[in-house]
Amino acid sequence: MFYTCKNLILFNRKRIKCDNLLETIENRILKQGILIAIEGIDGAGKTTQTKILKEKLTSMGYSVISLHEPTDGIWRKKIENLIKNGRHRISPETELSYFMFDRKEDVEKNITPSLQAKKIVIMDRYYFSTVCYQGARGLDLDYIEKRNEEIAPIPNITFILDVDTETALNRIKKSRPNLPNHFERKEYLKRVRQNFLKQFSNRPNVIILEADDTTSIIRVASNIWKIVEPIIKEFEE
Ligand code: TYD
Repeated sequence: MFYTCKNLILFNRKRIKCDNLLETIENRILKQGILIAIEGIDGAGKTTQTKILKEKLTSMGYSVISLHEPTDGIWRKKIENLIKNGRHRISPETELSYFMFDRKEDVEKNITPSLQAKKIVIMDRYYFSTVCYQGARGLDLDYIEKRNEEIAPIPNITFILDVDTETALNRIKKSRPNLPNHFERKEYLKRVRQNFLKQFSNRPNVIILEADDTTSIIRVASNIWKIVEPIIKEFEE
């Protein structure tokens, strides 16, 4: 992997001069924007993989933006309240509407303008999460998917990082001092995981990748890269 700095490149931990190389890796232009989604249950490693992919593409000279959903926009407070305090008094439909409003804002403010600017957009969670998380509250999965595809562009490629709930919850406990939140309950996450597998297996542009502790972070990143590289090449000027 390349790490760029002002006039050096660290390549396989060796420092090499890169004045010429830097020029060749700058400004790779695409014919159109590319949308990539990274999905999975809490603790699957989405944020880590988003970061690795973004750094790789940026170091190669592509214009890349990564976005996290739910966003920090105006719906965040209502969503945070659900996550922290529970959803006892909130119906599944109302909960769905919060995530949908939040996404609509993200699409209009960030996703569509970035795609129009021919950037690579990496989503750390997207509407597949809505289908599976709000679906796990009893709403119909196809209905949620259809409503989302009416307001949000369909990704060129989606990765679902699949991990069993026990491993996921152990990772969450290790990574944070506070207890798992209301969306991170074992039985609920089991249903969410089943939804991901049931709804999105055998889709042409969705790849399910094993991301448990037997598969290293680097191996998952390399599996993602094997799929992303030819897609990017296809859209290069
Ligand atoms: P947050 O801490 O913001 O994100 P993450 O855990 O992914 O870093 O919490 C987001 C929670 O919201 C997470 O448990 C998944 C859930 N969620 C939904 O239920 N529906 C959605 O549409 C999205 C995007 C997230």
